[in-house]
Amino acid sequence: HRTVALIVAAGRGERSGSALPKQFATVAGRPMVAHSHAALAGHPAIDHVLVVTGADQVEALEAALGPVPHVAGGATRRLSVLAGLEAIAATGGADRVLIHDAARPFLNADVIDRLLSALDAAPGAVPVLSVPDTVARAVGYALGEVVPREELVRVQTPQAFAFSAILAAHRGWAAEIEPTDDAQLLRAAGGKVVPVMGDIMLEKVTYPGDFAAAEVRAAARFR
Ligand code: CTP
Ligand code: MG
Repeated sequence: HRTVALIVAAGRGERSGSALPKQFATVAGRPMVAHSHAALAGHPAIDHVLVVTGADQVEALEAALGPVPHVAGGATRRLSVLAGLEAIAATGGADRVLIHDAARPFLNADVIDRLLSALDAAPGAVPVLSVPDTVARAVGYALGEVVPREELVRVQTPQAFAFSAILAAHRGWAAEIEPTDDAQLLRAAGGKVVPVMGDIMLEKVTYPGDFAAAEVRAAARFR
């Protein structure tokens, strides 16, 4: 198995209020992208790590990580992933790929192990968490019906795939809806995606308050 990890770090972090694009902002003493890069590069089953970053973000990436393999991303997350997959395809390909958001800095090796094991039985695997809150539809500014939370999961990254299957799903994207993750694309193309246990540490940094929450999680982890 040749297993490649793709980190998408080409966003602008507009919702985060961060001066730097959030993937380069410091969390637990290091730029966010450096945490997951270390976890993926240090995992024994992963052969290569490729970072997708903005054409104008290479300096920030190298300040965070030094010289590492990277390619230019696109205007949406989907296009950034596609650029990364095409770069892998053009440079020897892969059997398996893990696609990960730089905005989820605390990646545990156990999650990677669970995902790669699950790939033996399906072309896709994703980490999921249950939903602890009551969930209701939003109808404008009013509340709509409650959605039974037992029927819902939150889907995280990294997401693991058979490389040829996810590449084909990305190349075949034709929907009007912009996907927020890659498993959606594989499922739309008819590929099976199985859930594995996610990790609270993988919570995504999205809004300003999430930086402080990430520091708290990191403190608990490193204690
Ligand atoms: N991402 C990317 N290319 C894009 C958009 C997003 O590589 N054109 C990456 C981000 O860098 C992040 C991950 O996809 O690691 C998840 O996206 P999100 O949390 O939405 O990050 P941003 O798009 O940067 O933030 P925002 O939507 O608030 O601007
Ligand atoms: Mg975004």
